[in-house]
Amino acid sequence: MNDKKTREPMVIALATGKGGSMKTTSAVFMACALVDQSRGEQRVLVADADVQGDAKDWWYLAAEIGDPLPFDVMSAAPADIKHLHGINDRLDDPVDWVLIDSAPYGRALDESVNNADLVVIPSSPSRIDLDQAAGVKSLCEIVASPPRSSCAAPRPTRPLCVMRWRGSTTRTSRASRR
Ligand SMILES: Nc1ncnc2c1ncn2[C@@H]1O[C@H](COP(=O)(O)OP(=O)(O)OP(=O)(O)O)[C@@H](O)[C@H]1O
Ligand SMILES: [Mg+2]
Repeated sequence: MNDKKTREPMVIALATGKGGSMKTTSAVFMACALVDQSRGEQRVLVADADVQGDAKDWWYLAAEIGDPLPFDVMSAAPADIKHLHGINDRLDDPVDWVLIDSAPYGRALDESVNNADLVVIPSSPSRIDLDQAAGVKSLCEIVASPPRSSCAAPRPTRPLCVMRWRGSTTRTSRASRR
């Protein structure tokens, strides 16, 4: 029996309430980096939690142009997101990492934050993006604080905000760089 089958994967959510903030791009690039850095020893799965299906589209397009992505992408409904830590029970080839490409709203966002070991919040240094990033950070803190039931230990979800620079000249972006 493959002992990876008995291990839970590390689940990382790319999540924020702001659309177009690079959740999908970050999920795909991080998945590529994890495979590359481990020289293919670590197996990665991207869970596409956005009904728009951009990560899935990316996977199909890469295959069509003859440069397939080195990992699978699964469509993940909110109910699937709740069970990602146990996904190896249902896979022939177990994975070490699951990256959730979250939707920017609704149950998909909530379940992504609730069920990840680490939440990566991509954000530009603009005021609107940062407000949404702060909202997701608060959600992580709410999830981490009270035990969800008396018999289950809470899974501490850790937030990490990652900024991207786009040469913006807004006052907030200049202040953030300083
Ligand atoms: N390094 C980069 N710098 C600037 N823009 C980028 C970079 N990488 C990707 N983009 C662009 O940013 C846009 C948003 O990216 P992406 O689709 O990953 O965001 P998203 O948060 O997943 O959006 P949605 O909420 O619609 O799912 C895309 O048009 C993408 O081409
Ligand atoms: Mg997306």
